[in-house]
Amino acid sequence: MTTPPLAILVLAAGQGTRMLSRLPKVLHRIANRPLIEHVLTTAAALAPDRLIVVLAPGMTDVAAAVNAAAPEAETVVQAPALGTGHAVAAARTALAGFAGDVLVIFGDTPLLTPTSLQALLAERRRSPGAALAVAAMRPAAPEAYGRLVLDTDGGLAAIVEAKDASPAERAITLCNSGVMVIAGEVLFDLIDALRPENAKGEYYLTDIVAIARRRGLACRHVEASAESLLGVNSRADLALAEAALQQRLRAAAMASGATLVAPETVFLSADTRLGRDTVVGPFVVFGPGVTIGEGVEIPAFSHIVGATVGDRAIIGPFARLRPGAELGPEVHIGNFVEIKNARIEAGAKANHLTYIGDAVVGARSNIGAGTITCNYDGFTKSTTRIGSGVFIGSNAVLVAPVAVGDGAYVAAGSVITGDVAPDALALARGRQVEKPGRAAAWRQARAAARTQREKP
Ligand code: UD1
Ligand code: MG
Repeated sequence: MTTPPLAILVLAAGQGTRMLSRLPKVLHRIANRPLIEHVLTTAAALAPDRLIVVLAPGMTDVAAAVNAAAPEAETVVQAPALGTGHAVAAARTALAGFAGDVLVIFGDTPLLTPTSLQALLAERRRSPGAALAVAAMRPAAPEAYGRLVLDTDGGLAAIVEAKDASPAERAITLCNSGVMVIAGEVLFDLIDALRPENAKGEYYLTDIVAIARRRGLACRHVEASAESLLGVNSRADLALAEAALQQRLRAAAMASGATLVAPETVFLSADTRLGRDTVVGPFVVFGPGVTIGEGVEIPAFSHIVGATVGDRAIIGPFARLRPGAELGPEVHIGNFVEIKNARIEAGAKANHLTYIGDAVVGARSNIGAGTITCNYDGFTKSTTRIGSGVFIGSNAVLVAPVAVGDGAYVAAGSVITGDVAPDALALARGRQVEKPGRAAAWRQARAAARTQREKP
């Protein structure tokens, strides 16, 4: 049997009113990636012949996110948003002439996996083919989900929305995930029969089940984990989805050879890459765009965003790597050190209390405690170039644009405003002055004055 062509329809035109947000629901993020991007990545993994996203008018930011995540996706506009069935109808023209399976998924269901979608497609296609198949789940809190009403023989009879359900139907624990595959040849006939006669006055996609059954067509369901089918409708759901995805990402990081000492305290982004034998301590946060090499040590409480870290480097504890930090192998970045838009070459060290921004630090250079690159004058950013094998003494201030040549020394406490030649020693601080005995004399004078005051 040849597999029929596949179109995936992603519904994302809803207002997401329960989020109470100015941001469209599907642009809210988990693991630092918009919900819609998670859904599209999973959809693209099935290599569909068509990928269509249904948006509301004016959702230009969502359209941009769609284009970034899946450039092959088409978008169609649903106006106004009159329900999930109406949203499918909005794709009618785009799907004209398409013969195959139409898989409907929601933009607010970010934890879907390609495997669970494949199982659903297989269920519809299983001989004799059904008109449609629905992905079902048994969530801990079924509340707002639609309920699946089954026949005595286990076939799917209807889906009843929570707001329209009788007490007996509300007691059903088998719930609709919103993921449904429908045979293309019957889809729009069923959609045309929808009526908005329900609590919300909407065209419910879920009603096509009962309509199909009235026409003698078979409907089926497959159960999958409630976690993978979680729908985000509120901020609380968003937090649940974040927690579930973090668990997946931590498990994947460990499965690929990284050690997470206390995995439940480590926060990863969807694109975080950790090399083998890298050890991540407790309470480390990885923002987007981070690639960490092999054998790297990241002790507790470090915050890393948009950074690349070479093999066997040590980052932290309490280090902050910001976007554009590029660290070579065996670099050491210690506590309360912040690196932004700077390349730190192999074996260089900045171990304590330092800010390095818009800079290059050459191989094996040592940056003393408290060193600051002054990269910003209130108008423009300028670059600090430090060669290799340089020693910057503690509490130095490097006022950019400035360059320090290979092998140079900068004395502690210097304010460096001009370039330093290779192998030179630069001192830029007040010369020390010593007054012999002056401290003791001052102390004696103060003590005498106090004795005078305290006399009766
Ligand atoms: C829907 C299902 C419910 C299921 C639940 C699973 C229906 C009628 N109900 O309810 O059975 O248990 O999902 O999470 O299908 N959308 C549009 N246009 C619209 C309305 C919605 O594109 O006019 C999109 C939304 O952007 C969202 C998705 O469809 O991505 C689902 O809409 P939502 O309002 O969240 O439906 P639920 O009430 O969650
Ligand atoms: Mg929903």
